[in-house]
Amino acid sequence: MNREDFPMLKKDIVYFDNGATTLKPRVVIDKMNKYYLEHTSNIHRGDYEAAIKTNELYDGVRDLVSKFINCNSDEVIYTAGTTMSINMVVFGYMRKYLKKGDVVLLNKAEHASNVLPWIKLREEIGFEIKYVPLNKDYELTIDNIKKCVTDKTKVVSLAHVSNVVGDVRDVKSIGKYCRDKGIIFCVDGAQSVPHMKVDFKESNMDFLSFSGHKMCGPTGVGVLVGRKELLEEMDPLCFGGGMNSFFEEDYSYELKTVPTKFEAGTPPIAEVIGLGEAIKYLMSIGMDKIHNYEMDLKKYLIEKIKDIDNLIIYNKNTDSGIISFNIDGVFAQDTAIYLNHYHIYVRAGNHCAKMLKDEINIKNTVRVSMYFYNNKEDIDKLVDVLKNSKDIFKVII
Ligand code: ALA
Repeated sequence: MNREDFPMLKKDIVYFDNGATTLKPRVVIDKMNKYYLEHTSNIHRGDYEAAIKTNELYDGVRDLVSKFINCNSDEVIYTAGTTMSINMVVFGYMRKYLKKGDVVLLNKAEHASNVLPWIKLREEIGFEIKYVPLNKDYELTIDNIKKCVTDKTKVVSLAHVSNVVGDVRDVKSIGKYCRDKGIIFCVDGAQSVPHMKVDFKESNMDFLSFSGHKMCGPTGVGVLVGRKELLEEMDPLCFGGGMNSFFEEDYSYELKTVPTKFEAGTPPIAEVIGLGEAIKYLMSIGMDKIHNYEMDLKKYLIEKIKDIDNLIIYNKNTDSGIISFNIDGVFAQDTAIYLNHYHIYVRAGNHCAKMLKDEINIKNTVRVSMYFYNNKEDIDKLVDVLKNSKDIFKVII
């Protein structure tokens, strides 16, 4: 649906790499251009007309985010993206909160951005990282989380939707469980916020991270949402202009309140404005409609490919538009190159989830990740090309 809104779709391509980044609708591009063409100015510094307009737009995006994922506006911090958001939580909050002997629960399907920051901080503090085992379908369940929790468990950190397996984790139940146990619950929403209704408060999340560019917005901007009382405790990683009330020769200084204390320097202004437009755009379609549409596409795709010879599908039954597969005996990247020959864009590799190989027994997969502007014709093209894949080496060599 809404294909006409996306200039990139005027090209003869099938874009199935939405897990990596999504296409941008014209309204988002126009809104950012308008800032550059008509009211370029910095924020929170100017008293002239253009600057006042820019301030209003920039700060107004916090209200849009708060409606979009149900949090308070002053719990919304603009960041560079999901990776930066998670690093801010780990090095700004957890560095003070965690002690030697504490346990952080992760799992082996997580993206590098929700593993490496923890590994790095562990070197400094000496807490333990434990990996919750996945079930036989490579999914993360609340039952397996519960089996791993002990009195030492201080944090559960997970992606709401895995970027390879595509399983939708039951954040509502996990969040309630963690809140009751006094465990901090950190959610990477990079692959869920763009595709389904996510509710920060109802799911008892303590921190939620997501990126603009995976939800029709620009690159270079993302969001960290945190519970206000935790954000008040959290240290900024970046110091400079805009985030301090004063600093003096005697080394005294005072930081501004949340969220301003986390936004030092000139932020990505055009990108925040573009993110706001993307949120308005998605809300005008409706997140439930987007999710249901993607589920219909996924069912259609699975139905069409499940009987293709030599195709190994790793996640037929998940509730997201992510499908990971391999052609038996073919290196995943060769498959991606083959599909590119027919202008079908997918991602191949380990998708930054480099420990998943321990559970799934294979390092690399081909990933189709869909969005609401994909349609059944896209799927038909993919299926036709996959059905003829016995010619793959003739085509790509
Ligand atoms: N995290 C992004 C992906 O899964 C880049 O492709």
